[in-house]
Formats: sequence, C-alpha cells, structure tokens
Amino acid sequence: MQVNLLILIISLSFFLVSAKIDPQNLKCLVCRQTFEELNKVIKNVDKWKKVYVGNFRMDASGNTMQQKVSAHHSAVYISEVIDDICKKMDDYVRVYYKSTGKLAIMLLVTEYGNMNPEFSNTKFVTDDDLNKSLEYYCERMFEENEDEITQLYKARPHDDIMPDAELAICFNYTKYCEKWMLPTEEDTTWTAEMEAEYVKIHGPDPYGFGGLTQQQMMPEMVHDADEPEEVDEASQEELHAEL
Ligand SMILES: *[C@@H]1O[C@H](CO)[C@@H](O)[C@H](O)[C@H]1NC(C)=O
Ligand SMILES: *[C@@H]1O[C@H](CO)[C@@H](O)[C@H](O)[C@H]1NC(C)=O
Repeated sequence: MQVNLLILIISLSFFLVSAKIDPQNLKCLVCRQTFEELNKVIKNVDKWKKVYVGNFRMDASGNTMQQKVSAHHSAVYISEVIDDICKKMDDYVRVYYKSTGKLAIMLLVTEYGNMNPEFSNTKFVTDDDLNKSLEYYCERMFEENEDEITQLYKARPHDDIMPDAELAICFNYTKYCEKWMLPTEEDTTWTAEMEAEYVKIHGPDPYGFGGLTQQQMMPEMVHDADEPEEVDEASQEELHAEL
C-alpha cells in the first residue's frame, strides 16, 4: 500500500502545480534542513569516537601510522555525512502551506514509513526546473561553502553539536535565508474549518493530499459514503429541519 501510495503521488505530481520557485528561498530551506540532519547525525556519534584521516604513512621501523582525530572535527567525516544527507534530500518534496502559500520542503513519508501527517496542511508543488533536485541544491550548498562549514565544525568543542551552524551558514555567511522564509505559526496552522473553506473553493483537495490521506486512513468514512440510503435519510432530515 505504501508503494502504491508513492506511485500514485508521483503520477499525480505531473498534474499538480508547477511553478517558478524562488531559488534563494529553496537554497535556504535545503541549507537549514541539511544542518538539522547533520546535527542529528553528529549527536548520535559517540562523543570521543576517533576516526582515521589522511594517508597511511610508515615510520622508520615499518609500522603504519595514520592520524586519528575526533570524528566531529574531521573534514572528511563531515563531508561524508553531508554527502549522505544530500542523497536523503530526494525523499523531501517541495510544498506550499495551504494557509499562506509559503514555500517549504518536507518528507513525504516519515522515517517510520507513514505518510507525513503535516502533508495535509500543504499542497504539493513541482518546480519548473526539474533538473535541479533537492540533492543538487544540497550538494551545491556544501561545495560552495565547504571551507567555511568544515572550519566551523573543526573549531567546535568535542561534545557540542553546534546548534548555531544553521544561523552561521544559512543566514550569516551565505545570506540564503531571510527571516520571512522561516515557517511561522500562521503558516503551519491548518484547522478542519480552514480545510472545509479550502475545499469549497478548490474542490476536494486537488493539490495537497490531505483528502486522500484521510480517506485511506479512515476506511469507515469511505464505507459510510458507500451507503446511499443513510446519506439520503440524513439529507432528508436536514431538509425537514430547514423547513
Ligand atoms: C537538464 O538535463 C538534461 C539531461 O541531462 C540536459 O540535456 C539539459 O541540458 C539540462 N538542462 C539544464 C537547464 O540544465
Ligand atoms: C550572525 O549574525 C548576527 C548579526 O550580525 C550575530 O549577532 C550572530 O552572532 C551571528 N551568529 C552566528 C552563529 O554567526
């Protein structure tokens, strides 16, 4: 069912909103997500774990020597982790918040294998520039700022996850991000009432997948809708009530 869901989403995506997305905004979102993921990875590495870096050398008595440094401080290690993170970026999709139309990127399927529940607050958007995957944006971001990023991580204390790397790189150094690009409560708030209003205007969720998800997650509702007698009774009652 999960595979079906994905196939459905992918095929639907060809009929969905295609728009010119502000590349700076997208760079900002990818940048922030990359550091969030990077901090998550680093947090899970044992604090004092050492990794080998550089080439093997042989000392005078024929023993091999290689420099060992703390994983967190190794430029090679950081760059490998970022490579992996960039590959994962292709599990993210571009969306607009239904409430405000602000651009966001989010995981389609959560790490637990479920449809991301936040997805129903958004509508899916495809970029005009199909060549440029989120992986591409992530890789460019790292390439363009590699020295700055590795310097930042190398200089940090052993047990620090560097919570302000995002601020230092995505805002201060690259200037990709501006305050308005961050999601606010207004962007992320989406109530059942708002969805009802939205459906009145746009029909049953043509762009987001909120409607679809609800039906798939609540088979009872679908079942009810399949019983026209009940529906007729209900609407007759309503009619009587109105009269
Ligand atoms: C997009 O990718 C195709 C195939 O790799 C390539 O021929 C084309 O030049 C690319 N377009 C842009 C704008 O990079
Ligand atoms: C980012 O820039 C602001 C304003 O210039 C400064 O106050 C802040 O310390 C900087 N933060 C980082 C992490 O570089």
